[in-house]
Amino acid sequence: MPSRRHFLQTAAAFGASLALPAGAAPAARKEHRIELIPSAFQVPLDPASPARTGVWSFNRAFPGPLLRFRRGDTAHIAVSNQLPRDTTVHWHGLRVPNGMDGVPGVTQVAIAPGGRFDYRFELRDSGTYWYHPHQASFEQVPRGLYGALIVEEDKPPQVDQDVVWVLSDIKLDEQMQQVEDFGRILDVANEGRRGSHLLVNGQLAGPERRIEVRSGERLRLRLINAASARIFQLSVAGHAAHIVAWDGQGVTPQPQPAQGLVLGPGMRVDLIIDCMGKPGQNFELRDAGRPKVTSAVLGSLAYSAGPALRSRPLTTSIAVPPNALPEPKLGQATDHYIIFQGGMRGAPVIGTIDGKASRIQEIMAREGLAWTMNYNAQHEHALMHEPLLHLRKGEHVILHMMNETDFVHPMHLHGHFFRVLAVNGVANPQREWRDTVMMAPRQSVDVAFVADSPGEWMYHCHILDHAAGGMMGTILVE
Ligand code: C2O
Ligand code: CU
Repeated sequence: MPSRRHFLQTAAAFGASLALPAGAAPAARKEHRIELIPSAFQVPLDPASPARTGVWSFNRAFPGPLLRFRRGDTAHIAVSNQLPRDTTVHWHGLRVPNGMDGVPGVTQVAIAPGGRFDYRFELRDSGTYWYHPHQASFEQVPRGLYGALIVEEDKPPQVDQDVVWVLSDIKLDEQMQQVEDFGRILDVANEGRRGSHLLVNGQLAGPERRIEVRSGERLRLRLINAASARIFQLSVAGHAAHIVAWDGQGVTPQPQPAQGLVLGPGMRVDLIIDCMGKPGQNFELRDAGRPKVTSAVLGSLAYSAGPALRSRPLTTSIAVPPNALPEPKLGQATDHYIIFQGGMRGAPVIGTIDGKASRIQEIMAREGLAWTMNYNAQHEHALMHEPLLHLRKGEHVILHMMNETDFVHPMHLHGHFFRVLAVNGVANPQREWRDTVMMAPRQSVDVAFVADSPGEWMYHCHILDHAAGGMMGTILVE
């Protein structure tokens, strides 16, 4: 076993080694003790119908419980596995110590059925995050194992309501049961496995998924894409919705784009909406993504008939304060390159697996892998494979990602946020921070970050079938 993976030997010493560095937070506020119990159970996806659907989720709630913290708090989260399979929990977007990152075979031993793992970390950054297993994610996430995790800002923008919508989809048969066709090579090598129905907070999407508002109120709406492959294209009818954060990190507020707001798997967006409709009115939140599903209406803003809260919108700032993320210095940054190839369509590709070059079609048939990164095809969490990149701790990095496939890939890096510098060589004026960024087909995307957190960090496509099919590697920081 490579020496960099010493979690097996040091598992017992975790308690001691996790002492938080003094002065890391502005005075630790609160210690939260939480238990998460993943298990299989039945839920009504449509509260108006007697039908029940089998899901896997946490604490018999679907989605899992909404975890809310304040920046500087500490979370102790005990995960007791009541699933019939091994699992882990990964805290998507949170900058946690590597040993708390929830990646089986890389940062911890998977939690066996009946077993337990104690996660402990400080909430260093405010924002909208989520949690999900990193074990067989292409199956466990679409079965329902996901939940929202919110870290409140010290000084949040003033709003009247703060609403979290976990968006997803689910593939159902006529009996409203999940179709259990996870991991088919047809999905792995194409756009990934999409559901037949959209879900909003674990319920079937539709106009009945209402956010009740009063005329004049200011609403913060946090949207999380927990679907394993679906790319949402969202719009709020009749309102000037402003984007105030991507992946939990504040941006200069900007109006929602006319063509809809594109939210790929793993990504989050925070909107602030001044609700200036009239009492009794209704406005739809829609999805224009593909493929089409039974309902493109996700839900609605439903104005109560009562008196208006105010006749003019609030004038206070809607900007979300930034987190203290390490700023990459481009002048001293080193350049690194990752090239992506493969998939069912596109140019013929040669990939190397276990040191032997083969055509991608052969790799698909023999190994069930469909994608290469820097010409390598590899199974996820494979213990012996080499990291894609070796970085020095503290190194300033520009990562040039080149998508030579005919498919979209939302690429996610663990343990760090990066600034999106350029798309196809054209500078991105916003340079926003993200932990997940979409590469369109044949597109190149340049990002920059400081590799300040030691450990072996996952770097993968968040279309979870792609991740299982070869688009999952690691970046080693030491
Ligand atoms: Cu949201 Cu590596 O995951
Ligand atoms: Cu992908």
